[in-house]
Amino acid sequence: AERPVVRVPVKPTAHDVATGRDPERVRIFDTTCRDGEQSPGAAMNAEEKLTLARQLAALGVDVLEAGFPAASNGDFEAVRRIAEQVGNRPNPPIICGLARATAADIKRCWEAIEVAAFPRIHTFIATSDIHLEHKLRKTRAEVLDIISEQVRYACSLCKDVEFSAEDATRSDPEFLYEAFRRAAEAGATTLNVPDTCGYITPNEMYTLIRGIYENVPGVRTGDVILSVHGHDDLGMSVANFLAACEAGARQVEVTVNGIGERAGNASLEELVMALYVRRNYYARVFGRDDIASGHSDRQLTNIQFREIAKTSRMVSSLTGMVVAPNKAVVGANAFRHESGIHQHGYLRNASTYSILSADTVGATTNAISLGKLSGRAAFRARLTELGFELSDDDLNRAFLRFKELADRKREITDADLEAIVSGGLKEI
Ligand code: KIV
Ligand code: ZN
Repeated sequence: AERPVVRVPVKPTAHDVATGRDPERVRIFDTTCRDGEQSPGAAMNAEEKLTLARQLAALGVDVLEAGFPAASNGDFEAVRRIAEQVGNRPNPPIICGLARATAADIKRCWEAIEVAAFPRIHTFIATSDIHLEHKLRKTRAEVLDIISEQVRYACSLCKDVEFSAEDATRSDPEFLYEAFRRAAEAGATTLNVPDTCGYITPNEMYTLIRGIYENVPGVRTGDVILSVHGHDDLGMSVANFLAACEAGARQVEVTVNGIGERAGNASLEELVMALYVRRNYYARVFGRDDIASGHSDRQLTNIQFREIAKTSRMVSSLTGMVVAPNKAVVGANAFRHESGIHQHGYLRNASTYSILSADTVGATTNAISLGKLSGRAAFRARLTELGFELSDDDLNRAFLRFKELADRKREITDADLEAIVSGGLKEI
């Protein structure tokens, strides 16, 4: 059953107006350069981050979290260079830096990002009792006072401030609402719900976001944008985000290839392509009749889909984190069909076994991989693509030879096919 329509009347921000972006879109906040970099062994130097940041801007992300300036001088420099160079290009993303809720972190963050055309300070403190007791050693009242004071300080420096309640999904919801009310009263215009430990499930996420929507003034009126951030410890982060959007969240914090702490973060490409492939459903639930009716070529995000494969390859080569072949959307096998039955159907009509084409995300994959499970239809189709038109008898002989070879070799390449055909079919 479809979820009820939740239309969020978001007011256009200065960034939306300057870049002509649809204020009602789902905002893509990319944190590959910050949380993504927190994958063990994935750290990037300033030059590498700058290269990636340029590509993320071309991909069309709305907010680019460039790093954590107080963490090291190197990260400060990297964030500052991104703010200067990527934050002032035509149609720039918002350049964001992370800061703990302390005056020193917030000041350092501001110094790194202030040169950007659209800077954002993202400050956070934990709200779960587990974190309050074991990490912060503070009472709830103390945490609320820190939120008011530090968000107010961040807003005195920067017009655009995001507040995150770390470990929000394991926090007492009533306390979380109060923390968000304090942050909004102090001037935060984005409130972020991190599923820091990747613990929540989609239905719970839906309920939590509805609760915030109902209990935090400013979210319902569109003065504050509700955001989600999450990790993939139980493999549910993208599903959680989609449920959050159905409940009224309009910013999602993601990384390319889903890299990040432990099992990683929600993956940009999966989330964006789910909103694309299933856009009629999501557009209806978001109350976007213009998109649901099919009369508009607008999308639910600002992402340039054809840049996805290139961005994924870049992240993999800069961080050294290999993409699994079966990874959705960007894995080497994501658009390849192996079994004869699938290949036959696909060749007759791609929609039989495919909901998304490699082309859409800018990938150049051969849809049909030839191996021992392939049938005659796929074999003939590939030979035709290679320019070989065989008689039925020759095709039968070549197919027998192909099957023999496929039993010995996992994948048959174009060079193998040429050898089979040119190697003299009469000898078979
Ligand atoms: O996972 C998390 O809680 C974070 C916050 C700093 C947003 O990365
Ligand atoms: Zn995180």
